Amino acid sequence: MVKLNKIAEDIPGTILAKVEYFNPGHSVKDRMALKMIEDAEARGDLKPGGTVIECTSGNTGMGLALACIVKGYSLICTMSDKQSKEKIDILRAVGAEVYVCPTNVPPDHPESYYSVAERKSKEIENSFWVNQYDNLSNRLAHYESTGPEIWEQTDGKVTHFVVGVGTGGTISGVAKYLKEKNPDVQIWGVDSYGSVFKKYHETGEFDEKEIYSYITEGIGEDILPKNVDFSLIDHFEKVTDRDGAVVTRELAKKEGLFLGYSGGSAFQAVRQLKDKLTKDDVVVILFHDHGSRYVGKVFNDDWMRERGFLNEEKKTAQDLFADHKDLPLLLVNSGEPVHNAVAIMRKFGVSQLPVMEEGKFVGSIDDSRLIPALAADPSARDKEVRNYMRAPFPVVQLSDPLTAVAKYFNEENGAVLVDQGQGRYQIITRHDLVASMS
Ligand SMILES: Cc1ncc(COP(=O)(O)O)c(C=O)c1O
Repeated sequence: MVKLNKIAEDIPGTILAKVEYFNPGHSVKDRMALKMIEDAEARGDLKPGGTVIECTSGNTGMGLALACIVKGYSLICTMSDKQSKEKIDILRAVGAEVYVCPTNVPPDHPESYYSVAERKSKEIENSFWVNQYDNLSNRLAHYESTGPEIWEQTDGKVTHFVVGVGTGGTISGVAKYLKEKNPDVQIWGVDSYGSVFKKYHETGEFDEKEIYSYITEGIGEDILPKNVDFSLIDHFEKVTDRDGAVVTRELAKKEGLFLGYSGGSAFQAVRQLKDKLTKDDVVVILFHDHGSRYVGKVFNDDWMRERGFLNEEKKTAQDLFADHKDLPLLLVNSGEPVHNAVAIMRKFGVSQLPVMEEGKFVGSIDDSRLIPALAADPSARDKEVRNYMRAPFPVVQLSDPLTAVAKYFNEENGAVLVDQGQGRYQIITRHDLVASMS
């Protein structure tokens, strides 16, 4: 369990993450994959030398692949073509035979990844179709392991559990355990736009109009899996593809949590619901998997840009001086001798300063002007700064976009001042600008 810090600063309560990428297959699905196989063995549905078949968004396939290697089964996985290429390649790397099926077909279409898995299970002798959607060993695994861990790791203090819902195994198993321990624990499911869950939960209607294709991986469905126990879920929150992707990147940058796409969706859901939380709440968000499976997608700038997902990350003047925002603005008065300005520049390692006179910015001074002046006339060091001033630095507003700020930089001008209100200013230098673009 990891406590979220910076990213959760404006959310009331303690926000904890159950980070599931530490499992050997790098996702929470290892837990239910092993359980589904061992329960099938116990029932006699899976016999030595058999073939395990599954439709998967990748993570269950990985968990199954590891179990199959250890136990000596063959594995066939069917996947929809919206899954990341990394997931497909990884499954092949651990010995699975993978069939990639079209996403944009209904579940009962013969080419859907559900139908292909079912067909293969009928064609292949001594095979077992795991069917994580309706196989209740899935949620049982979480009832037996994930739920108790969350309870113990929070010393029974958990008040909210938040998680993306796909097959429903994670949410339903954990919810059952936690609600048995404390019926007041709130269970929030994270859903995607394009999925049927939220509307079905709120109205009891399976509305086909809710179904359309979306990009988020692992959460939301166009079917009602038996593993989703709607009676245990207090609320479904929908998160857009864009918000999920942007927040997944934010979690990596602000918390050092390199997570899969549904992790961003889960955190975004908590953000959207933060008004329902109080300072005493202990919220556990489960993060399903590791970011390495998404490097070609969410963590790829081109992929993000093509979908128009990068706009939200547009930097403004405020972002450009973030690393010195708490330091006072360095400046010099126009009547001071040049050697004072040089001393400040040397001490703080800066190459320009705003110049003030009677509380106003009247000019600027920089090393490209001072160096030749001092070289030509050493007595310049005792002369007043006003003799060597350039024009004052342009002033920008906190919300001005980076592109607008960058326009002020040229050979003559190497900095701008940012008006922070109430007479406070900060400086953005050429160095800050370059650092923000790297
Ligand atoms: C990345 C990811 N997030 C969320 C989920 C949803 O979990 P569950 O199927 O237990 O509801 C899955 C399941 O496939 C997943 O792979």
